[in-house]
Amino acid sequence: MKTYLFPGTFDPFTRGHRDIARRASGLCDRLIIAVMENSAKKPVFTPDEREQMVRLSISEYDNIEVIKSSGLLVDIYKDMGCCAVVRGIRSESDFRYEAEMTLANRLLYPSYETVLIPCRDDMSLISSSIVKEVGHYGGDISKMVPAEIVEMVKNKLTERKL
Ligand code: PNS
Repeated sequence: MKTYLFPGTFDPFTRGHRDIARRASGLCDRLIIAVMENSAKKPVFTPDEREQMVRLSISEYDNIEVIKSSGLLVDIYKDMGCCAVVRGIRSESDFRYEAEMTLANRLLYPSYETVLIPCRDDMSLISSSIVKEVGHYGGDISKMVPAEIVEMVKNKLTERKL
């Protein structure tokens, strides 16, 4: 059983994330999406909300599971018997960040492996930050996040302004 792990903050989950998950799920037997914490970020959505958004967005895929963790990535990697971490890349700066993260994780766990998936052209400008910025000012985010979570994301971003 080949298990890949797709970790991220997913604050919120975007169409770009879902496309990477869909493509990665075709490369392995089981894909685990891990909703995690990044110490450099202060998420707008709670861990439960982020997990729920991922679940709602990927329900049509039989071999994708969702978990939530506030621990180290390598611990999940080991515990879940993963053979690679999947990350989507949009740009050269994403690539550098991923290369550094891979090296750091490999120091913690030498057999750690990463599969980098370049994002689709038409999704290269979508990021969770852009969704939050556009949503904050009441712009249309329906092309940026999966249809299943548009209302949830809109409501949260609007209620923060009140
Ligand atoms: O979506 P993001 O913010 O780019 O995802 C980054 C994430 C959550 C995968 C990364 O910060 C992470 O692995 N966090 C868990 C803690 C950890 O293991 N950090 C060491 C990474 S070198």
